[in-house]
Amino acid sequence: QELKINLEQIEKGGYEHFMLKEIHEQPNAIKDTYRGRLRVKEGIIKMAGVDDNLERFLNANRIIVVACGTSWHAGLVAEYIFEDLARIPVEVEYASEFRYRNPVITEKDVVIAISQSGETADTLAAIKLAKSKGAFVFGVCNVVGSSIARETHAGAYTHAGPEIGVASTKAFTTQITVLTLLALKLAKANGNISISEFHKHLTELELIPNKVAEALKADDHIKTVAATYKDAKNCLYLGRGFNFPVALEGALKLKEISYIHAEGYPAAEMKHGPIALIDDQMPVFVIATKKGHYEKVVSNIQEIKSRSGKIIGIVTEGDEDVKELADHVIEVPETLELLTPLLTTIPLQLLSYHIAVMLDKNVDQPRNLAKSVTVE
Ligand code: G6P
Repeated sequence: QELKINLEQIEKGGYEHFMLKEIHEQPNAIKDTYRGRLRVKEGIIKMAGVDDNLERFLNANRIIVVACGTSWHAGLVAEYIFEDLARIPVEVEYASEFRYRNPVITEKDVVIAISQSGETADTLAAIKLAKSKGAFVFGVCNVVGSSIARETHAGAYTHAGPEIGVASTKAFTTQITVLTLLALKLAKANGNISISEFHKHLTELELIPNKVAEALKADDHIKTVAATYKDAKNCLYLGRGFNFPVALEGALKLKEISYIHAEGYPAAEMKHGPIALIDDQMPVFVIATKKGHYEKVVSNIQEIKSRSGKIIGIVTEGDEDVKELADHVIEVPETLELLTPLLTTIPLQLLSYHIAVMLDKNVDQPRNLAKSVTVE
């Protein structure tokens, strides 16, 4: 028993929980994921699984992403990125719904299956269905040699390293990294991005690990924010565009480990329902980075404020407007709009982590949840 405890402490590398360790591993995990693929000097992206099947991708009528949980959120971010850069229509499906609804799948479809574990039963079944209809299936998995990695026609691994905490963190950001590389590669191949824009994106993506490290430095401040809101019964997470899925993921992280009810919403949808819930007991986490429909998000914030909601803004470094309206702001470095999810996710992960620790919850193994869901 004692030996087991000591081993676990060594595995945690000095961190109190695996989740915290994995959050802090993200700069390196992202770097490991783009290493060898992102070649800024040569101006290329190298991904063997894509190069070998480029025609399938370029002839695709559309891309269908299938996934569950956090991986599904990464798929939603990818939808925005693929459509923006590569102009390929994308649909993102919960694997569990897709597999049972008699979906229209053709040989001209490319299916991207995203799974950290590579063992999720619903995702695996969705892949088998897509294959039986002739679609080309590409996997984005973290676990090498996993069932999904073996069942797909080709794929690209995230090189996040083992993720032990049940609540997914570094798997999410590395999935977005792989999918961004893929979108950029396809955009270049189908001529939807100029060479200079392509270079700009490669250069910025290469800087992301340092910027994630920068975002992680807000940890002490985030702890103070966590202490302020830890007793909330309900929380709302809002974002728009590329950061709408980050709002969903932020809410999921809080639910999973702190058991506080939380909902993620597209900021502008708030007026169609959730606004009714806002009062002075309701913390609202708003992702309001510069560029991403910033003015519109600021006006959403004003609507929350006029109903006495508590506002926590996730903002770009140096932001002034949100700071004036919000109860708290947490800054992230500036980057290209489509890369902001890789940064805005970080404070939301830390926030959930600290709240769960303060509430004395089992952060790494939350009740009722499993790391890998191999039953449907
Ligand atoms: C479980 C895990 C989540 C994960 C989801 C999908 O619910 O607790 O963290 O996002 O399964 O798992 P996968 O391994 O397919 O990404």
